Amino acid sequence: MKSKMKKIGILTSGGDAPGMNAAVRAIVRTALSNNIKPIGINRGFRGIYEKDFVPLSSRNVANLIKAGGTFLETSRFPELKDEKVCKDVADIIKKENFDSVFIIGGNGSLRGANALSKFGANTIVLPGSIDNDIPGTEMSIGVDTALNTILYAVDRIKDTASSHERTFLIEVMGRGSGYLALMACIATGADYVIIPEFPINIDEIISMTQMRKKEHKKNTIIIVAEGAIHVEELEKKLKKKIPWEIRKTILGHIQRGGSPTAYDRVLATRLGRESVEQYLMGNANVLIGYSGTTYKITPISQVVNMVKPAPANDIKTVRYMST
Ligand code: F6P
Repeated sequence: MKSKMKKIGILTSGGDAPGMNAAVRAIVRTALSNNIKPIGINRGFRGIYEKDFVPLSSRNVANLIKAGGTFLETSRFPELKDEKVCKDVADIIKKENFDSVFIIGGNGSLRGANALSKFGANTIVLPGSIDNDIPGTEMSIGVDTALNTILYAVDRIKDTASSHERTFLIEVMGRGSGYLALMACIATGADYVIIPEFPINIDEIISMTQMRKKEHKKNTIIIVAEGAIHVEELEKKLKKKIPWEIRKTILGHIQRGGSPTAYDRVLATRLGRESVEQYLMGNANVLIGYSGTTYKITPISQVVNMVKPAPANDIKTVRYMST
């Protein structure tokens, strides 16, 4: 008797991240090579609820390795927190005969996958978020590209800041994590970083800025993680003691766009391939992470309530470099 062809669903969820397309491409091509039928699910978990499915072939994912955004589109679907909706979504997964749904997304996606597993639906999560706040992996898909976009912008702001001897506050994304801000500060040689993992010391920022002015330093660049304080509020606090003009820039959603870097393309492709192999080995409800040179396979239930703070030691790196 001919055995039934296995079928998997693939979706991207939460904030898009560069490299999500490369991950979908890798899942589709690895699945097809192993006689598994890949079905795209449009607009994240919402697409399951609305049965918005599209069969994917190798040709459908051609050239996607270099494309920014996510061609399957994404959404936030807070309705999944409702038990009834969650059960309905899990029932659709089972009725449609998806052996597993492959989800590329961040912490919200992990929570969604964990909730679905309680109603008997199988999922596999690949970490995709520019914030690098997903536990169980050293790097998430999209982080490297976002960081390079930030460097591109900060380097240019430094040029104009130096021309006017100005003080700049630059706000970067990251939600509750200071990872992007911290790495951007190190990589651009900025002078100070404010991240949610450490208490804000306004007096220290003021004296550092005053000292640099006194010494006629060409610029003062302060990188601010959005999760710590917003630049408008920070400016108000600094203005009380700093008489000269302060300029501020919010980099915003530019950080999420663009063609993925080589690092993100390779990471996404590796995680995509590994995720299908893990599925073939019978693994379900796991996060496929990568650390050093090895894959890290962790049950979703183990990581779903963990937090991943930015590396504390790097605050010291910033201090030593900005003397
Ligand atoms: O999680 C990714 C992220 O870009 C965060 O850094 C940011 O806080 C958030 O998404 C913005 O979300 P939205 O695009 O829904 O405004």
